[in-house]
Amino acid sequence: MNTKYIDLINQTYHFPQEEFTLEDEHLRFHGIELNQVVAQYGSPLKFTYLPKISENIYRAKTWFANAMEKYQYKGNYKYCYCTKSSHFQHVLNEALKNDIHIETSSAFDINIVEQLKAKGKIKVDTFVICNGFKRDQYIENIGRLINEGHRNCIPIIDNYEEIDLLSDVIKNDFQVGIRIASEEEPKFEFYTSRLGIGYRNIVPFYKNQIKNNEKVELKMLHFFINTGICDNAYYWNELAKCLKVYVRLKKICPSLDSLNIGGGFPIKNSLAFEYDYQYMIDEIINQIKITCDEALVSVPNIFTEFGSFTVGETGGAIYEILYQKQQNDREKWNMIDSSFITTLPDTWAINKRFIMLPINRWNDEYERVLLGGLTCDSDDYYNSEQNRNAIYLPKYKKDRPLYIGFFNTGAYQETIGGYGGLQHCLIPQPKHILIDRDTEGNIVTSLFNPQQKAEDLLKILGYDVNVEVKEEKREIVNHGVS
Ligand SMILES: Cc1ncc(COP(=O)(O)O)c(C=O)c1O
Repeated sequence: MNTKYIDLINQTYHFPQEEFTLEDEHLRFHGIELNQVVAQYGSPLKFTYLPKISENIYRAKTWFANAMEKYQYKGNYKYCYCTKSSHFQHVLNEALKNDIHIETSSAFDINIVEQLKAKGKIKVDTFVICNGFKRDQYIENIGRLINEGHRNCIPIIDNYEEIDLLSDVIKNDFQVGIRIASEEEPKFEFYTSRLGIGYRNIVPFYKNQIKNNEKVELKMLHFFINTGICDNAYYWNELAKCLKVYVRLKKICPSLDSLNIGGGFPIKNSLAFEYDYQYMIDEIINQIKITCDEALVSVPNIFTEFGSFTVGETGGAIYEILYQKQQNDREKWNMIDSSFITTLPDTWAINKRFIMLPINRWNDEYERVLLGGLTCDSDDYYNSEQNRNAIYLPKYKKDRPLYIGFFNTGAYQETIGGYGGLQHCLIPQPKHILIDRDTEGNIVTSLFNPQQKAEDLLKILGYDVNVEVKEEKREIVNHGVS
């Protein structure tokens, strides 16, 4: 009988895969020996594998180029990075190596843009697409950027007041986009997104507030579907509605030349993940071309704002199984040395699943377990994978440490988890390792941030950190990865 963990994986999935391979009984991720990373830095840790950012940008640009060639599409394609998925400097530095543009969502994003511009990473002609509900500080910051000469900063109008608010702070004329408020999927709790302006109101809004406004030029229509770019009737139906609005507007607004189809490209969340990116892009380009040709209007330039797709597949978290609690005949709780709620908040908040694999001991027998976090919150657990409604791991053995990795966690988890701030039950935020390649292609690791210390948290809480804090001697390091 096949009872080893490796057998289970081989029976369930195609394995090895492009990024997941096995060396002896240790897992490698993009060739990175994860057991070595754990041996060097200790668990728990989070890592960011930077080269994946450029790789994914390159993949997307190639798919769009192929589709545009296939359908002899006369517009161009601009890849924007949606900064809210990860604002870290190392992420933006890597992304901006690839001739891309930026999408922002709030006031402080513009401070980041200004810093990157001062360092020459963002050029004067880089598009800065400003989404989000805009008030005071955001309006002021957008105004400053445009007044300082950044013509390609395009605020996307989200509500009826924004044109006036922007006009008050921007000295010369400026370009805008309008966001369509999409109809939500039928199973949602509400019908229309609160973001943007309803389909039916867009043309009247243009006529009332933009058409005869000498200061404002409409350049872009923006369309983002919360559920992402999926091959289902809902997506194609919403796209068709959006394209109808586009051609109606284009006929009365010659300056309109761009369609922004937002973010929402899926990423690999299971070893069984299948998604035909090229087919989806081909079909989107095809639909846009057909609609524009039928309406006798020129096709728009296409913008995307991929967040998860740019940065999601760079990230991972590694934990050690500290202990096993058998609570009844069937339920074995493997306790990790950190918390799911604080380090992977989407697993708790929206029941998101990531790829989870052991780092070591693949030749050992497996067992079915539940994974528990260290906080005393009963919701701090993880109990099933995307394509299996259970979790299997090599059998817990007290004298043979087991390490597990969660993969493709690079988008949103840090900002939603409040990186560097207070943590639930004061379970410290793990250390954060950057992984890159040097010019010869060798893997290089560096410590971006150490694990939070007691004094970091006490300081936030208002305690006097000058009073000596007794540090925990054991920083949960185990160098004996077997
Ligand atoms: C306007 C807009 N663009 C882009 C994105 C990025 O989406 P994703 O991370 O799914 O690519 C979002 C995410 O919420 C968004 O609201």
